[in-house]
Amino acid sequence: MAVGIFDSGLGGLTVLDAVSKALPDVPFVYYGDNAHTPYGVRDADDIYDLTTKGVERLWAAGCDLVILACNTASAAALRRMQEGWIPEDKRVLGVFVPLIEALTEREWGDNSPPREVAVKHVALFATPATVSSRAFQRELAFRAVGVDVEAQPCGGLVDAIEEGDEILAEALVRSHVEALQRRMPTPEAAILGCTHYPLMQNAFQEALGPEVKVYSQADLVAASLGDYLKRHPDMLGSGTVSMNLTSGDPARVSSKATQFLRRKVEFHAA
Ligand code: DGL
Repeated sequence: MAVGIFDSGLGGLTVLDAVSKALPDVPFVYYGDNAHTPYGVRDADDIYDLTTKGVERLWAAGCDLVILACNTASAAALRRMQEGWIPEDKRVLGVFVPLIEALTEREWGDNSPPREVAVKHVALFATPATVSSRAFQRELAFRAVGVDVEAQPCGGLVDAIEEGDEILAEALVRSHVEALQRRMPTPEAAILGCTHYPLMQNAFQEALGPEVKVYSQADLVAASLGDYLKRHPDMLGSGTVSMNLTSGDPARVSSKATQFLRRKVEFHAA
């Protein structure tokens, strides 16, 4: 009864951490495509090919349900995957919708027509591929009207976080926030639309100021996965063991992941 968690690299570990805490009895198999990270600078076809390969590996590990814990893959590949690639007995879910439901004050799966919501000015920080897909704006438009979204592609930030270069990462956060504020001086909410960014949440909050509500995904995804599994217990696959797989070098990825989460994390070759 395992659930698969896919990411381009280490960012999805923030989601893995949250789902493992929220659902301690569920085994999770994590797949990091570290050999090909970052996805944020790749084109949509490339992201689709890499994502489908990773998801197939998770299906082979006994996970009928796979969470794309990667906004870039969710934005650039998920819709195409759902349009005919996913077999009937499998599911692949992205990480955008729980975030947008929280922002628009909706219950899980509330598909009623779009309506006015409290928040009017939203800043989105994400990878260049996620920003150019406009997937966030598309999903938001299904649920809310009259929300102005200003998106900032945060070039370089994923690399700095993966390298563990905190000084560079903080400087990049400040400069990306300044760039966004030149176009939207007073957002009410900010979305951290990349699973790497929760690690820089304090830096984002500090640069944005205390009056901006910062939404980060991990806990929202964990809550909505718990809800989903209650309604679809049949989607717990046949896998029984938690493990972390990587397309990269397991020793190097284990050491980076340990540094990333500040606790011991071990990876095996996919
Ligand atoms: N962490 C991933 C995301 O949520 C992408 C990082 C990357 O590979 O560029 O978008």
